[in-house]
Amino acid sequence: MEVLVARRSEPADGIIVLELVAEAGTTLPDFEPGAHVDVHLGDGLIRQYSLCSNPSDRSRYQLGILLADGSRGGSAAVHRSVHTGDRLRIGLPRNQFPLAPEARQTLLIGGGIGITPLLAMAHHCVGNGKAFTLHYCARSRSKAAFLEELEKEPLRDATHLHFDDDDPAQRFDPARDLPKPAPGTHLYICGPAGFMEWVIGEARRLGYTETQIHREYFEAEVDIAGDGFEVTLAQSGRTVTVPAGVTIVQALADVGVKIEVSCEQGICGTCLCTVIEGIPDHRDHYLTDEEKAANDQILPCCSRAKTPTLVLDL
Ligand code: FES
Repeated sequence: MEVLVARRSEPADGIIVLELVAEAGTTLPDFEPGAHVDVHLGDGLIRQYSLCSNPSDRSRYQLGILLADGSRGGSAAVHRSVHTGDRLRIGLPRNQFPLAPEARQTLLIGGGIGITPLLAMAHHCVGNGKAFTLHYCARSRSKAAFLEELEKEPLRDATHLHFDDDDPAQRFDPARDLPKPAPGTHLYICGPAGFMEWVIGEARRLGYTETQIHREYFEAEVDIAGDGFEVTLAQSGRTVTVPAGVTIVQALADVGVKIEVSCEQGICGTCLCTVIEGIPDHRDHYLTDEEKAANDQILPCCSRAKTPTLVLDL
């Protein structure tokens, strides 16, 4: 759908916030806390950004976008070319990071720009009378967005801010800041991959189970190391070699077979394919452990093969 950029602001170093509104006379679709939208940036470039506004407010969507180091074009394109008054093409909200409806205690832990989906979750918890605590870790105050919103009611009392360049005693310490795991306690973690691995590891060490730990990656290392293999396209019977150091998506594109991609980092699920034969070497952060174990789906933007050939339903 097409939306209007009602306001662009830069509340923190390297972060812009866009407020998007519907065309005159229309409303924006509902969204769930944790949801994101695809933003179409032209030339086939699509990137996902979490909706960080209050889900009960359908008059606007808000996105917070960090200018990523080494941006592959997505955040750099938004920072460079999207301004107040522009029109933007976005997809319908999709949610791969839902809140557990049965939660009795919700812990939201954001690192850097990973605060964005958690902000919408915090508003949802406030609006629905659900107990929650929000920990927001940032390198410094100047690099933390949404502080004004977080430091006033109704979010202030549940929010804890942690800055790397401030007194070490206020830094996030999972052993001190996370409550003992209890039935109904759920953790939601979003941030840079290293931060997430650290928090998830500490949570496991404290006794949190996998069903209590929810995560959303917004960036991930893509590891495509390993030998080459073959992919057979079941619908045409054609077989294509995927050399070492080349993704399945790239190898197929080289012979004219296009798979739709978005993040190209195994995060979003856009490129999901059905596996008919062979065993994938899953390298993504999208499929659950159970889905990976079933070996009947693959994210070909990053995953590889454990068998000499994979037969895909393409
Ligand atoms: Fe996002 Fe493959 S394009 S998971």
